[in-house]
Amino acid sequence: MPPDRQVSLHRALLPLRFFVGGTFLFAGIDKLLDPAFLQVAGPGSIGEQLATYARISPLAPLISAVALPAPLLTGVIVASLEIAAGLGVLTGLAYRLSTIVGALLALTFFLTASWAVRPYYLGPDLPYMVGWITLGLAGHGGLYVVGDRIERAFSLPPPAPEAGPADETRRGLLQLIVLAAGALSVAGISGMLSALGPAFASEPAPLSSPVANGSGSPSGGPGSSLAPGVIATVAAVRVARSRVFTDPTSGDPAVLVALPDGTIVAYDAICTHAGCTVAFDRLSGNLLCPCHGAIFDPAHAGRVVDGPTDEPLVSLPIRIDAATGAISLAG
Ligand code: FES
Repeated sequence: MPPDRQVSLHRALLPLRFFVGGTFLFAGIDKLLDPAFLQVAGPGSIGEQLATYARISPLAPLISAVALPAPLLTGVIVASLEIAAGLGVLTGLAYRLSTIVGALLALTFFLTASWAVRPYYLGPDLPYMVGWITLGLAGHGGLYVVGDRIERAFSLPPPAPEAGPADETRRGLLQLIVLAAGALSVAGISGMLSALGPAFASEPAPLSSPVANGSGSPSGGPGSSLAPGVIATVAAVRVARSRVFTDPTSGDPAVLVALPDGTIVAYDAICTHAGCTVAFDRLSGNLLCPCHGAIFDPAHAGRVVDGPTDEPLVSLPIRIDAATGAISLAG
């Protein structure tokens, strides 16, 4: 291809390069700034997400064996790799390796976070993967790369036309070391800012946790005890507007909701998108998923109001003892 057409090609790819690189860089920083993400459990936590993927993903055996026992380390590694891939493609440092890492991350996200998205084209991770592959195949074409400046800073002579593989390896290694140092610095600063407090924290998950909406365990109210098989009492659910409990049949988290007309309904709290746990939102009266924003309407059989799924929540039939107000699962 003539040189001027090559330059046009690489210029045409600049929006893709800066969008994909910038988004991955931001995503990595955002994860480390989010106080809910680096937690073993809780809405939006890496621990909960991994537990979900260990149920639904084709990578489940690998996740259970490697990632699930060390969720915080997994979260830090994923965020740091996102930062490194983003920085690499933005600066041109270790460019091809960065695009490979980015494509592998996007593939992993597709096989986990997006695996349950139907139809597949609603999931964002495949397009990112294709974007990374395109960038890797095209290369940066010498546009907006900082490698030369870094080599000069380390007093490396400009590459000679007849430079051998050893010289290439030395330059590649130097770029990799600088990129790794840059990525670890950004990750470390993000982690420190997050630890400093809410002023630096990224937007927290928009939900209050299920525990904040009511008791985290079956209960009829503060200090009360319930008969075996009873999940809660009508009075307690109406006061709190919702109660979380564990479905003894499936072992899933589940939620009771008191509707505005006083009716009480129950749902399996596993989001039908990718299996995170939904929680009741007092403001809207809906059940919200912290992972990708699905919204379910408890007043209409758990139907989807918004979000990346078409499947309503699974409704759980309940029985209410008219005399005592005790609620138990039917059947
Ligand atoms: Fe994706 Fe709930 S798991 S919206």
